[in-house]
Amino acid sequence: MAGDGPLEPGSVPTHVGIIMDGNGRWATARKLPRSSGHQEGLEAAKRIVRAAADTGTRYLSLYAFSTENWNRTADEVKFLMGLVTGYLRKELPFYQQVGVRVVHSGDLKRLPRAVRNEVKGVIADTRQFNRIIVNLALNYGGRDEILRSVNRIWKRRLKDSEATPLDADQLRRSLDLPDFPDPDLVIRTGGERRLSNFLIWQCAYAELYFCDKLWPDWGYDDYLAAVRDYSRRKRNFGGSR
Ligand code: FPP
Repeated sequence: MAGDGPLEPGSVPTHVGIIMDGNGRWATARKLPRSSGHQEGLEAAKRIVRAAADTGTRYLSLYAFSTENWNRTADEVKFLMGLVTGYLRKELPFYQQVGVRVVHSGDLKRLPRAVRNEVKGVIADTRQFNRIIVNLALNYGGRDEILRSVNRIWKRRLKDSEATPLDADQLRRSLDLPDFPDPDLVIRTGGERRLSNFLIWQCAYAELYFCDKLWPDWGYDDYLAAVRDYSRRKRNFGGSR
């Protein structure tokens, strides 16, 4: 492992979220179309999934397409959707080799039918793998997720005419992936320092790691460096030190 000595097993984050930023700038710097950056971003995602699995990360959330990304040009949106339909299920040998189970968060209903089918297909294809669970956040927005959660509860309650106040645990259990623990660590590449609507309910106590390196340049050792940085932090969840 890179760095200074082995990581303590207890100090490895269980759930890591990644905001994979910088694909466009990576391509522009090489006078390539932005789509080449996304293509390289996909390769980086595979490297990091492998690194995460090897490090003992059990859950990895990748922010692949946000509810705000629809505002990009039609060509770029089409390319990103094509990347999903063209590659997601084709990577089955990779999922099998690394032991990756894929799940999804976000509003599946509002994605094109081909993308929906690809996502449902990969979820079914990888159900039996269990070394790492990779959450593909696609058409995902934190506020949108909370709203959908509240609306699910509201609909259920209308049926049952239930009138007790809603508590935090009920809301959490209606989120897209109720069995996922909150992220311990959120990594953002590409130099920006914000969450951009990523897992905003779940990140209340996440440790944040920002890095200037653009996503397509990320490799195995970058992931290890982030985990090592996390392992040195003291977390107190609002309690005293
Ligand atoms: C942000 O870079 C990246 C995205 C909006 C797309 C993320 C997609 C990938 C990394 C491909 C991997 C896909 C899967 C299915 C795992 P940006 O375009 O905002 O870059 P910029 O800030 O330099 O313009």
